[in-house]
Amino acid sequence: MRLLTNCTLVPHPGESVPDAVIAIDGETIAWAGPLTDLPGDYAGWEREDLGGRLVTPGLIDCHTHIVHGGHRAGEFRMRLEGESYDAIARAGGGIVSTVTATREATEDALLADALTRADALIAEGVTTLEIKSGYGLDEATELKMLRVARAVGDARPVDVVTTFLGAHAVPADYKGEAESYIDTVCIPALRAAHAEGLVDAVDGFCEGIAFSPDEIARVFDAARALGLPIKLHAEQLSDLGGAAMAAERGAMSVDHLEYLNADDVQILAQHGTVAVILPGAFYTLRETQAPPIEALRAAGVPMAVATDCNPGSSPMASLLLAMNMSATLFRMTPDECLAGVTTNAAKALGLTDRGDIAQGQRADLCVWNIGAPEELSYRIGFNPLHQRYYRGRPC
Ligand code: NIG
Ligand code: FE
Repeated sequence: MRLLTNCTLVPHPGESVPDAVIAIDGETIAWAGPLTDLPGDYAGWEREDLGGRLVTPGLIDCHTHIVHGGHRAGEFRMRLEGESYDAIARAGGGIVSTVTATREATEDALLADALTRADALIAEGVTTLEIKSGYGLDEATELKMLRVARAVGDARPVDVVTTFLGAHAVPADYKGEAESYIDTVCIPALRAAHAEGLVDAVDGFCEGIAFSPDEIARVFDAARALGLPIKLHAEQLSDLGGAAMAAERGAMSVDHLEYLNADDVQILAQHGTVAVILPGAFYTLRETQAPPIEALRAAGVPMAVATDCNPGSSPMASLLLAMNMSATLFRMTPDECLAGVTTNAAKALGLTDRGDIAQGQRADLCVWNIGAPEELSYRIGFNPLHQRYYRGRPC
């Protein structure tokens, strides 16, 4: 039981409470508000003076691929020389090349490598981290990736939410046979991973270089039969209608969305689907079409922001940079960026116990050396984190 005193509280983006107190009981926020309103019952609690610093909810990175073998710096060089992401993928590079490296890597090696990226995120205040599979594309490697993802959560003070992404790409040995891959490899692997308790949600990549909406729908049917929530990489490079298909099936989120059309924005709004904005991939691929932020905002679609940390299209392990890019590249407001990595990121993961500072919420908090919450989006390459609280503990 402890009281964090003398802080400026940002309980939700856009709100600011000066001279505030947060009462932490175990892993939970027992009370939060202005000092003047603090109930007398807390008088005897141990106090920690935060020196007037600003406190936000712990950050949530709701879309990452931090478990993977190798790197794709060679592909980076090719793209700089003019080759496209699409063409590299079609020629057997891209995601499929990371699959080879991931299949070859041991669990220990994958974990050691993933921890370097997890540590970078944690150092910026991340307290909940989603990690996807999808570089195995066979049962053994998909399960290996998910076990490593769980191991990241065991090794570090961070909550890991796992996502099965067997429908990420068609592996080389199934080239031209996407449907057969889905039925004979992907869905059985999903069932096996679920049986081991390794899956919190199911994702897919709906794109010309990956899977069609119909193929993804088969995976979603299998997910529903297992009682697992779904989400989708959609409309990143072209408009195939994947986002609307996923929203209509109750997806928690649809992610990327550069090519989302105006009608489908309305479908997201109707279904309360979260739009996950991934500026790292937009930036890395030198994409020119931005996601329809204004239309999403006007329709009231909740927007999250994530790193998409992966070896190909977004080799970025900084959620603060993702906030900055969302503001500068997409004109999201600093409050939208903060909501994107807190309250709306929680929503994208289906988590109701975190993302805000309120009574009963998890005591996952960030204490920052900044004067205004906008500074989190405004600075570039600078980490103002003073202290992170994870499940009520400073660490
Ligand atoms: O989210 N879009 C599909 N999947 C990843 C890219 C993975 C890769 O290129 O390795 C993404 O951007
Ligand atoms: Fe991704």
